[in-house]
Amino acid sequence: MKNTTATFKKAKEEKQKITMLTAYDYSFAKLMDEAGINSILVGDSVGMVCLGYEDTLPVTMEDMIHHTKAVARGAKNALVVADMPFMSYQTSVYDAVVNAGRLIKEGGAQAVKLEGGFEVTEQIKAIVDASIPVVAHIGLTPQSVNSFGGFKVQGKSEAAAQKLLDEARAVEKAGAFAVVMECVPAKLAAKITEELSIPTIGIGAGAGCDGQVLVYQDMLGLFSDFTPKFVKQFANVGEIVKGAFEGYIREVQEGTFPAQEHTFKIDDEVLDKLY
Ligand code: KIV
Ligand code: NA
Repeated sequence: MKNTTATFKKAKEEKQKITMLTAYDYSFAKLMDEAGINSILVGDSVGMVCLGYEDTLPVTMEDMIHHTKAVARGAKNALVVADMPFMSYQTSVYDAVVNAGRLIKEGGAQAVKLEGGFEVTEQIKAIVDASIPVVAHIGLTPQSVNSFGGFKVQGKSEAAAQKLLDEARAVEKAGAFAVVMECVPAKLAAKITEELSIPTIGIGAGAGCDGQVLVYQDMLGLFSDFTPKFVKQFANVGEIVKGAFEGYIREVQEGTFPAQEHTFKIDDEVLDKLY
């Protein structure tokens, strides 16, 4: 059954956990969808794990639309959420609505996600008014890496914790149907989750959230540039993949691949007639 914003709402009411993973292409979206994931996030983390940038700042609307299209074709039942890239919504409410619309119309997503609290409530309202569901994203917001001065846990002091709770309330009031909380102390995330009527999706925010999200390359051991503390490796697919590549290289060099069963036949008669 297709997951919708109503599925998220019902899950929170019934205390059922919401599952989300990132994907950036058709094949992985299809695998997750078949595994029964509730939602697939086409994250702007695509910039780091697929495109090799150091952070998410260079990611463009064109990048996001390109990858969202591929994911949307592979996701039958999962709710597809597309990230709004850096500078596609910060510049104005108008830009925010136009760019959110492109991720839906051209990309085929069912919802968009954008980073920030008080400073983006006008954008959230306007996008929701255009009938586009919005996921908010607070705590560690990677597009602000330069103003944060690095990637670190958010909301530890009393003032910062209060601000995070107030921001969560503000994005809910603005109309977001869910909120991602990244790198937030577990007890604070649990308290915010209790205070909100919309579901919270945690990443590095503990088990008290209504749902969880991870970058699939991280949970499969496919991205080794760095591993955040909150990542659990559910399988070391990176090792398996590297082993397969080494096997291929070896067999091609030895001449054992391709074998008979991988080749196409031709009648000798045909060959004999060649001159
Ligand atoms: O871009 C991304 O992958 C994200 C998740 C980590 C929440 O925003
Ligand atoms: Na993101």
